Amino acid sequence: MKILNIGMIGFGTVGTGVYKVLQSFKNINIKKIAVKNINKKRNVENFDEKLLTSDAYEIVNNPEIDIVVEVSGGTDPTYDLLKTAINNGKHIVTANKELLAKKGSELFKLAQEKNVVILYEAAVAGGIPIIMPIKTILCANKLTKIAGILNGTTNYILTKMAEKDLSYETALKQAQELGYAETDPTGDVKGFDAAYKIAILASISFNKKIDINKIYKEGITKITEQDIKSAKELGYRIKLIALAQMSDKGEVDVRVHPMLVSKKHLLAKVNNATNSVMISGYPVGDLAFTGPGAGSEPTSSSVAGDILVLASELEASDKPIPLYVRNQTEIANQIDISETYNEYYISVTASNNPGAIGVAGTICGNNNINISTIMQKGINEDNTAEIVVITERSKESDVQNALKELLNTDCIKKINNLLRVMN
Ligand SMILES: NC(=O)c1ccc[n+]([C@@H]2O[C@H](COP(=O)([O-])OP(=O)(O)OC[C@H]3O[C@@H](n4cnc5c(N)ncnc54)[C@H](OP(=O)(O)O)[C@@H]3O)[C@@H](O)[C@H]2O)c1
Repeated sequence: MKILNIGMIGFGTVGTGVYKVLQSFKNINIKKIAVKNINKKRNVENFDEKLLTSDAYEIVNNPEIDIVVEVSGGTDPTYDLLKTAINNGKHIVTANKELLAKKGSELFKLAQEKNVVILYEAAVAGGIPIIMPIKTILCANKLTKIAGILNGTTNYILTKMAEKDLSYETALKQAQELGYAETDPTGDVKGFDAAYKIAILASISFNKKIDINKIYKEGITKITEQDIKSAKELGYRIKLIALAQMSDKGEVDVRVHPMLVSKKHLLAKVNNATNSVMISGYPVGDLAFTGPGAGSEPTSSSVAGDILVLASELEASDKPIPLYVRNQTEIANQIDISETYNEYYISVTASNNPGAIGVAGTICGNNNINISTIMQKGINEDNTAEIVVITERSKESDVQNALKELLNTDCIKKINNLLRVMN
């Protein structure tokens, strides 16, 4: 039996989980673990503190280490650490979506030159196996669409807003108290985390480089109790959806934003911190993968799985099978959100006079937008009313023009929200 030496960078939520799981595998020897604060008390049974170092370069430069497991996060110093490890001929297992979304192509290119692999099952949707299935058993397919709930924190907040009629602020506070949201929740609630994950999924599904800066991102901070209520009345749930699709012409549309999802749709039934990824392609058709998208144990399942796959490959040969290697050379032709077609939910506040609905209808018509549902909700004390419109499939740029025109009328006082719809 070949014994593989592992060097871990990071011993937090994910790192301690991975350490515990790997204790049952005799072919894996954890040689060293780098942490930031070497004096911090580690709450791990029978743990030998001598394994710890505060210098991660001790790991990436150690000639005895075969695999570097990076579970620390961020891009600095992680990017330089992993480059050093790869240059020293080490295979990499990482859970770091931010690093891969921002610097993946440079790292994959270097890894290919140095004949090593980078595995990252845990970087997208925690415990759900999604990267390996796309790279291996689905490789005969032309994948055209991925739609997913890839952020547990925002899904938890939106679920509680809908179930308990909470405001965004109260639901966020509860999520923080229960440990589902960080003290600074920006990365989750503004859509950055989901954007990193959909960038990774799109790049391997379409085999093209995705520019993270060209991904349209809109978080959940503007979702109101009124939106949640109107969505429910219309037969929808509001979810933060990460979407990637490739047209027949090869145009790639990647974005993250909240959507009204029909309550009949599978993604509308994914609640709390659960994640779900739906993939469409030929010849397979539509697939759905659902499960825990974060947490120490589910995430360590994916990290440890990558390590053990690599270990069994390296037992047979020094070169793991080429299917695991993805080095995208072609740059995706990413289109701007203004070029996309969607159905829309538009909520406006209008003065309560008989002409308001007619004005809204005329402006939509003039901008090639067909309305499928229009509803006026109660009358406010200041003699205004909320009008909610659901449109048929329309072009985003036309909808944005219509909103500007609506605001220039005397009867439309405010655009409350614009959300896209998934049926
Ligand atoms: N948590 C999840 O559920 C989850 C799920 C999927 C993916 N991930 C990804 O997994 C990674 C780790 O997440 P986590 O939740 O485990 O984070 P965490 O609990 O904050 O742990 C981070 C660990 O990295 C160590 N560290 C930080 N900077 C370091 C440096 N410069 N050198 C050496 N060690 C350093 C910290 O040391 P100290 O212990 O001394 O502070 C800590 O042990 C991130 O990329 C995250 O996005 C997390």
